[in-house]
Amino acid sequence: APLGARTPDPASGATFAAGERVPTRRRYLMCEPRFFTVEYVINPWMRPDQPVSTERAVEQWEQLRRTYERLGHTVETIEPQPGLPDMVFAANSGTVIDGRVLGSRFRAEQRAAEAEHFRRWFLEHGYRSVVMPEKINEAEGDFAWTGSLLLAGTGFRTDPGAHAEAQEVLGMPVVSLQLVDPRYYHLDVALFVLDDQSEHPLVAYYPDAFSPGSQQVLRRLFPDAVIANAEDAECLGLNGVSDGRNVVLPMEATHLAEKVAERGFEPVLVDVSELRKSGGGPKCCTMELRD
Ligand code: ARG
Repeated sequence: APLGARTPDPASGATFAAGERVPTRRRYLMCEPRFFTVEYVINPWMRPDQPVSTERAVEQWEQLRRTYERLGHTVETIEPQPGLPDMVFAANSGTVIDGRVLGSRFRAEQRAAEAEHFRRWFLEHGYRSVVMPEKINEAEGDFAWTGSLLLAGTGFRTDPGAHAEAQEVLGMPVVSLQLVDPRYYHLDVALFVLDDQSEHPLVAYYPDAFSPGSQQVLRRLFPDAVIANAEDAECLGLNGVSDGRNVVLPMEATHLAEKVAERGFEPVLVDVSELRKSGGGPKCCTMELRD
């Protein structure tokens, strides 16, 4: 675009100068943490001995939802279910690209029933192509869409065979990445996509969460990525949600926020301290509906 050209922001109607980051309007699916607790242990963040306030979790979740709405996005919700304390982590229950849905199949028995509630939601909301996976598949927990490639994590949750299954069902090229640190048990706590609208997607990631070979793959694919450090990763800072301009991050991720700001993004910090007790952050609570 010529210098000084301005692009309208579909969300707010604001205009942006040439070279500025431009947001695109998103549709998200979220689930209120009405029955949130930490009563079983399926990742190193979960400690049933530490007190958890369901009320605070609901407040933080409401803030996150209001943040998306203020940024111009649409938030759909699914009814939470008693006995499914992790259902708030909606990102784990479906991967939606081009209106096609690949459902999920959880590794832990405690979360297994969530998948069916989401499958039903998709069918009731007009999705025609809803495929449930054969292999263990924790959806956007381990799948990140860059706009052209589906980055797929494995090592702790999603079965590597689910990567090939996703490629067939969604018809999108999949790149497998090996996770090696149990604290970063899902891809979405080790990497997130900052820009999925340009020809050269931009991601942020924490290299040490990946095997040496996968680190090499990430360097080749994303030579200009934002590289996070241990401090960024330890507050689950990589569990971010970007609309191409605004980047929602846990409020402790101040160092990562500075780094994304240097690249022209607008960090938006939110308090997710209660949800982190289960090993989750903003992205885990947010499934993107790419219709
Ligand atoms: N307690 C949940 C689990 O371990 C947290 C899931 C967080 N979600 C995510 N997308 N990383 O399954």
